[in-house]
Amino acid sequence: MAFASTTSAHPLAHYRAEFPIFERQIYLNSCSLGALSTRSRRQVGRFLELWESRGAAAWYDVWWEALAELRQGYAQVVGANPGEIALHASISTATAVLSGALDYAARPKVVTTALDFPTVAYQWLAKQPSGVEVEVVESPDGITVPLDTLERAIDRRTALVATSHVYFTSGAIQDVRAVADLAHAKGALCFIDAYQSVGQVPVNVHATGVDFLCAGGLKWLLGGPGTVFLYVREDLIRQLTPTVTGWFAHQRQFDFDPRGIVWHDDARRFEQGTPALAAVYAQLGGLEVIREIGVPRIREIVRELTEDLITRALGAGLHPKVAADPSQRSAIVMIPDDNPAGSVRRLADASIVADARPGHVRLSPFFYNLSDDHAAAIEVLRA
Ligand SMILES: Cc1ncc(COP(=O)(O)O)c(C=O)c1O
Repeated sequence: MAFASTTSAHPLAHYRAEFPIFERQIYLNSCSLGALSTRSRRQVGRFLELWESRGAAAWYDVWWEALAELRQGYAQVVGANPGEIALHASISTATAVLSGALDYAARPKVVTTALDFPTVAYQWLAKQPSGVEVEVVESPDGITVPLDTLERAIDRRTALVATSHVYFTSGAIQDVRAVADLAHAKGALCFIDAYQSVGQVPVNVHATGVDFLCAGGLKWLLGGPGTVFLYVREDLIRQLTPTVTGWFAHQRQFDFDPRGIVWHDDARRFEQGTPALAAVYAQLGGLEVIREIGVPRIREIVRELTEDLITRALGAGLHPKVAADPSQRSAIVMIPDDNPAGSVRRLADASIVADARPGHVRLSPFFYNLSDDHAAAIEVLRA
């Protein structure tokens, strides 16, 4: 690929025209929120038209079908069956349902890491009063967690290993196949928070052998806030009974029977209540773009863009905090900074959208970015 060290455009650059934010700004913050596409805007417009013209009547055909289409789209992007996908509003609600469905009697321990997004640990920390133990495995460098450290924490008392595919803190890609194997070797289950990977890094849930996985629209699937999914491995679905639930988990929800729950046979048993349809439509627009290009192709381009950004940062005397092995890097580049909020303000003054995290400026390119965007951002940070 030739574009990395030059200002020439890459093979996906023409998609930039579908993201109007670039008419006014350079957007380098996709790991917070993917940019809005014209297709998502069009899809949300369609939802509003249906709401206006048909009201609740749209539920019984098109809106119900939109939910099925979304489950199918999410399934396709991670290599799952649609019946293994439950829709949720956030990673927090999805993991709350998951944490409520596991049995901690013989195995009270949950293992997680210091680099994972904290809402995951909170689901099990909240269960400490009822005897659940949470072990947080530390990271020696703030970038990765060595597999042998994780292995030492997993034992016969471990119910679940809950960690990330891509760490939001460093962009490092974790070998989730290896994590699942470590968990299974001790009879534990494995949950992967893949919010920072699905869309930018290929994921095949069946090939990795993970038991549960979450991802969604906010970042790399270009769907905005409000829709995520929980994947549950087929053979586990009917073994697990939710304790946190809602009427969408009921196989015959339109019986409106408060006397008992007949659980769905598929992963919908882990759903809760009425999905936010505007968000569903926004996600359908974003997924259309992602599926059209294909995640392996996105990864190819984004990997080059990430290396380009890192090379430019190093060339400007900055010291990006990224995984040592390039194959472990993804499109989250943390640049140490004494005054990250100030630097993000200076970037904003130059019409560049980035983000600050403690001690760092965070830049995250996606397939709609160009090497020129990196040059502009690094120029500001160098100054
Ligand atoms: C890895 C990861 N997990 C979870 C979340 C957020 O979870 P929720 O959907 O509950 O807000 C984020 C950031 O938004 C994240 O980066």
